[in-house]
Amino acid sequence: MTALLSIRDLTVRYRREGVEVTALKGISLDVEAGERLAIIGESGSGKSTLALAVAGLLAEAAEVGGSIEWQKPRSSHSVTASHFQPLGGRDIGFVFQDPSFSLDPVMPVGKQIAEVARTHLNLTWREAYAKAKTLLGRVRLPDSEAALRAYPHQLSGGQKQRVAIAAAIAAAPKLLIADEATSALDTIVQAEIVSLIRGLVNEDGLTLAFISHDIALAATLAERIAVLRHGELVELGDTDQILNAPRHAYTRMLLDAHLGLDAKPLLDRQGASA
Ligand SMILES: Nc1ncnc2c1ncn2[C@@H]1O[C@H](COP(=O)(O)OP(=O)(O)OP(=O)(O)O)[C@@H](O)[C@H]1O
Ligand SMILES: [Mg+2]
Repeated sequence: MTALLSIRDLTVRYRREGVEVTALKGISLDVEAGERLAIIGESGSGKSTLALAVAGLLAEAAEVGGSIEWQKPRSSHSVTASHFQPLGGRDIGFVFQDPSFSLDPVMPVGKQIAEVARTHLNLTWREAYAKAKTLLGRVRLPDSEAALRAYPHQLSGGQKQRVAIAAAIAAAPKLLIADEATSALDTIVQAEIVSLIRGLVNEDGLTLAFISHDIALAATLAERIAVLRHGELVELGDTDQILNAPRHAYTRMLLDAHLGLDAKPLLDRQGASA
């Protein structure tokens, strides 16, 4: 496989009111084209910081070192503090935990999705609306014609997340980053959204970075799992290996917290859903 993305020695420091937090400490990681990678770790381990760094969305006050390189022919860039090039837009679709981050409360959702498609794919408004309608169908909103005209507040949390996913894939990105995209949803809706993401990723041949604090959920979707702890990449391996033969004590602890000492049921679940 080819690396879509090569992250080398990525360090991110935040400075706030004189206090310095090193959120990422020299992360190196290749993301293969077409793979489904999960990034897991407890709250504060640096998962969102990693995702935001890749998408070029870090807070301005963040101090960044190291490099993030894209597969040729896309130009590579070095993420030093002074040469930070946002990479968002076409190549990356980003789904946040809270869909309000990506949805404008005073604009019909159809227009919001159409706007993404129009801007990045050079479509006319008419073409972009047709695309938005198709996308709303693909994320399985029951009446995509009516959904086009709906405002975010008229939709449930799960429906809003579906719209946010439609907007995230509207520009035909290579990489879809889902940062705790299902964490605020109840278990049933969570399972539906995970299944939706799996389907879209397969259909469009997207590369997926699925970020979660929940190792069990991540294992149902990912082929590889990266484990972050206190800003360090403590373990990276195939889902199978991580579940059955975790090398790092912290990974074992995350598994034990879910399952007691037996990781087998998780693996069965992953096999069943593949
Ligand atoms: N904008 C910011 N300013 C200052 N510190 C920040 C900022 N964003 C994150 N941090 C700090 O960086 C560290 C990593 O945070 P990050 O949000 O990346 O973790 P996370 O793994 O995504 O956590 P969660 O599971 O709660 O979303 C934490 O100590 C956090 O307090
Ligand atoms: Mg986070």
